[in-house]
Amino acid sequence: MVHIDILSLFPEMFQGPFGIGILKRAIDRKLVSISIHNIRDYTHDKHATVDDYPYGGGAGMILKPEPIFEAVESIKSDICRKQGVSDIDCYTLPIILLTPQGRLYSQHIAAELSTHRQMTLICGHYEGVDERVPEYLASDEISIGDYVLSGGELAAMVVVDAVVRLLPGVLGSQASLLEDSHVTGLLEYPQYTRPAVHRERSVPEVLLSGNHAQIAKWRREQAILRTLKRRPELLDKANLCSEERQLVERLSTSPGKSAGDKWSGQQLMEENS
Ligand code: ADE
Repeated sequence: MVHIDILSLFPEMFQGPFGIGILKRAIDRKLVSISIHNIRDYTHDKHATVDDYPYGGGAGMILKPEPIFEAVESIKSDICRKQGVSDIDCYTLPIILLTPQGRLYSQHIAAELSTHRQMTLICGHYEGVDERVPEYLASDEISIGDYVLSGGELAAMVVVDAVVRLLPGVLGSQASLLEDSHVTGLLEYPQYTRPAVHRERSVPEVLLSGNHAQIAKWRREQAILRTLKRRPELLDKANLCSEERQLVERLSTSPGKSAGDKWSGQQLMEENS
């Protein structure tokens, strides 16, 4: 079982997302356990002060280091006690600060985190966190995108969700993981379900054909086409065979078809046949 500790000023925020769907099922089935710790519980003054003015002046309040250090130390000593060890390093226990200054979260990072048996996430708030937290306490800093949230809680939920669905046994079908957008390096192909005709719009013929080789070929082409159209930069790193590379080259350099956005799936298949 994987264990995740989360430090937050707003523990109630997690009740909804962790109490429903795949995350709840993973918790109920003991594939993951999640403890939310209120940073305020680690203060010692009567006002339970967690923030203070920035040295040097400036707008907003900064989260104080003491309660965050104490919370992490308490989590670490619990883990050490349970595991009968005297100390724990950052490979055994990654300590991740959620911050817009962190490295950009990706499927790759989620996969890496999903190999750890435990991790601790620290949700920042207000205008920032005292720099001694990222410098001397956290082993990693993660941002979920180039925008500023009002706190790290939503970011922590995103990180946890993407990690937990990768844990063995969490999803019904492990096979579906392999086809996820960003796992193959490509965006996912379009999916359809019944009815075959909805408001006079039909599902692509090939998907009804029962010809699995043709279906696989169509899906691969659609994934490449969609990636070229929406996220062309992903193709640089995608695992394409030389024919597929040539096709991408042709589609992106043809006059009038520079972004690939004038190509339909049908045109792509004709081009590729
Ligand atoms: N806290 C505020 N904004 C954030 C972001 N984009 N990612 C992670 N944590 C954050």
